[in-house]
Amino acid sequence: MLPILKTPRLPLAVVLSLALPLALLSGQAAAERRSLAQDWLFQKGDAAGADRPAFDDGNWRKVAVPHDFSIMDKPDGTPPFDAKAVGGQDSGYLPGGQGWYRKHLVLVKGDAARVLRLNFEAVYMDADIWFNGEHVGRHRYGYTAFTLDLTGKAKAGDNVITVRVNHVDPSSRWYAGSGLIRPVTLDLLDPVHVAPDSVFASTRSASAAQGEVDVQASVSNRAAAAAKVELLSTLVAQDGSTAAQDRRVLTIPARGKADVAQRFAVAQPKLWSPEAPNLYTLVQEVRVNGVLRDTRRTRFGIRTVTVDAENGLRINGKQYVLKGGNIHHDNYMLGAAGAPDADRRKVALMKDAGYNAIRSAHNPASQATLEAADELGMLVIDEAFDMWRKSKRDADYARFFEDNWRRDIDSMVVSGRNHPSVIFWSVGNEIPEQASPEGARTTRELGARIRLLDPTRPITQGVNVDSPDNAPIFAEMDVAGYNYRVHLFGSDHAAHPKRVMYTSESTSKDAFRYWDPVGRMPWVIGDFVWTSVDYIGETGIGWMGYSKDWKELGKYPWHLAYCGEIDATGRKRPAAYYRQVIWQSGIDPVAAFVEQPAGTEDLPDRDYFKEHPELDWSLHDLHQSWSWKGQEGKPLKVVVYAEHPEVELFLNGRSLGRKAVGRQTEYQALYSVPYQAGRLVAVGYRDGKAADRWELRTAGAPAAVKLSADRRHVRANGEDLVYVSAELVDAEGVPVYARDGDRKFKVTVTGAGMLAGAGNGNPMDASSLQSGERSTFHGRLVAVVRAGTEAGPVHVEFAAEGLPVQRVRVDATGRTSGL
Ligand code: GAL
Repeated sequence: MLPILKTPRLPLAVVLSLALPLALLSGQAAAERRSLAQDWLFQKGDAAGADRPAFDDGNWRKVAVPHDFSIMDKPDGTPPFDAKAVGGQDSGYLPGGQGWYRKHLVLVKGDAARVLRLNFEAVYMDADIWFNGEHVGRHRYGYTAFTLDLTGKAKAGDNVITVRVNHVDPSSRWYAGSGLIRPVTLDLLDPVHVAPDSVFASTRSASAAQGEVDVQASVSNRAAAAAKVELLSTLVAQDGSTAAQDRRVLTIPARGKADVAQRFAVAQPKLWSPEAPNLYTLVQEVRVNGVLRDTRRTRFGIRTVTVDAENGLRINGKQYVLKGGNIHHDNYMLGAAGAPDADRRKVALMKDAGYNAIRSAHNPASQATLEAADELGMLVIDEAFDMWRKSKRDADYARFFEDNWRRDIDSMVVSGRNHPSVIFWSVGNEIPEQASPEGARTTRELGARIRLLDPTRPITQGVNVDSPDNAPIFAEMDVAGYNYRVHLFGSDHAAHPKRVMYTSESTSKDAFRYWDPVGRMPWVIGDFVWTSVDYIGETGIGWMGYSKDWKELGKYPWHLAYCGEIDATGRKRPAAYYRQVIWQSGIDPVAAFVEQPAGTEDLPDRDYFKEHPELDWSLHDLHQSWSWKGQEGKPLKVVVYAEHPEVELFLNGRSLGRKAVGRQTEYQALYSVPYQAGRLVAVGYRDGKAADRWELRTAGAPAAVKLSADRRHVRANGEDLVYVSAELVDAEGVPVYARDGDRKFKVTVTGAGMLAGAGNGNPMDASSLQSGERSTFHGRLVAVVRAGTEAGPVHVEFAAEGLPVQRVRVDATGRTSGL
């Protein structure tokens, strides 16, 4: 048993005021993390010899990372989509290929002599890295973080990092992107430091009265002499107060390390939960002879997670159900570039739409995703792989699994285990070996590896085979993920009463059927729809379905899956509103949508789905619009979703009748309404009284553009993003939704920022995502603006023929010098 450490609450300022002057007096540089986002040079295709420092990279293109070279327009400005791309429907007709990056890293003498750790959060894929001409690393998997130790290899002045990416197609069942797709950073440390990957803060117990936090860490000594080291560990609450503290003295041999295990007691902890995502920071300060050598900050949360078939999922002892969505990693108009703000926005969009859980399909989530989930209170299933030894596509990770899975599992767990949002580790998805003894054996192996690094979290994976074939593999897991198998929950429970189950993938059109057992069967703890946010690749599955014939559909220029309940630009589609209602989330408690009249579809091939209703991923063809020119007098099907027990629909003030709504009607009321322009209003009644309303209005011709920016201030760090949405409205401000109102825009960014991308969510509009020339789709267009590295105003302009030009100003403040 570890001794429990307690301290009275000391403001952090006091702790820092004691530490800082010493560090300053000593002239020692404090531990530092530098972003290497800026000033990379890029060359597509082979660039033999570029690993040599003296290589002439003068005509390479300057790019910022995260960067995805598959999404970039070709040098002649034409879009990258290619009907003949090897990845085809899988990749959204976007090619992989080889790409080279070089970065000149200028270091002053003192910095070159420090412990240097170069961190890549993900490089897709099969990356080779050289530093000053020396081959320093190879990393095969495209989604896991890795670190290269450059200590002793750097010199004062110019150093060159070279990365070769070798993305051989076809490598993936969805759009993966290519290149330095997640952040790159450099840690500059003292020889005596907390080993960054060694830190693990976990909750042993948590109640309102007390939390027990276990911390394990190693302190490294890279110096040639032994060191007597003081490690001061402080748990700091969000308000800056000290929640607990421990001081230890360690003697660390030369070129050795010392492991530390501590247990902290926190009185009246502010527990982390989806509704109150309270965070703490573990601050570890390392001193030698009283001089501060290293400070490491690790954010974590105090919370417990348990699962069992009687009580379901409990966080801090309280029962939760997983209102989940699957997401892929791409950011649509930015491609697979995992810009932290873009990743964060996806989490926020889901939170705002009532989801409380994310399944990171089918690869480890980015740090930005996990940080956002920590801050917003989203639960995450972090998933390792889509395949193990047997490939799903010719050039996928199966080629590398045998030699690499240990380091990739380690990377996922080490980089994810301090995030309170991560509740389960998933070892795979629909793995080809899943029904064989090998599948069960590999699950056991992967699980054992995970438990070595994190024994606190349940292990799961998504399985899509029926009983009894799924029994051996489920027996190796703590929680059973069922892909599209709601029909098994009753019978599998009878056969395996202790099994905890959830739907790891479901179809949106069957939302009610998949949600209904959740919680009512206590062993069924949640449902994750495929997908919550739309993505590039698996083209057209949300429109014309998915079957063996699907490959004949979803042809270029299709490039989006179009099955996302939130579209690629972030707009909620009707399916998202329905889910909010069946979850009784209180967000838009009543909402009405109109079915597209037969024969008027704005995208082709829909009939295929109608003839094959058994095909799954297609969403209902519903629209948030009451503009149906040409349908006058014809009956339109209107669907009202409501949390209320009763709804009433009105057309131009005339009641179309009240209807009872509830579980028995799957929270829907259907109306047939002869079309007449005007106002369609749905009212939800509670206790006989009108409680909420929803209105659709017929729009006239577009007369103006309404802009909304998700922020007006950015840091001039070359990384912050602003999302600016443009919506067409008529003379009275009514949104224009009908396709004949769509307008072609030119988006221009001037001043202290640049256009990072613009998209409209149209799954068939394969025009450039970077040029800023793009039409609206159902009246909407979203541009992404990236801050530059100089402070100043950023001007964003939207211009469409015949409409007044609209501008928005964003201010970039501060200044960061790149490396
Ligand atoms: C599932 C698979 C997902 C996605 C989905 C829709 O079977 O696990 O990755 O492919 O089908 O096509």
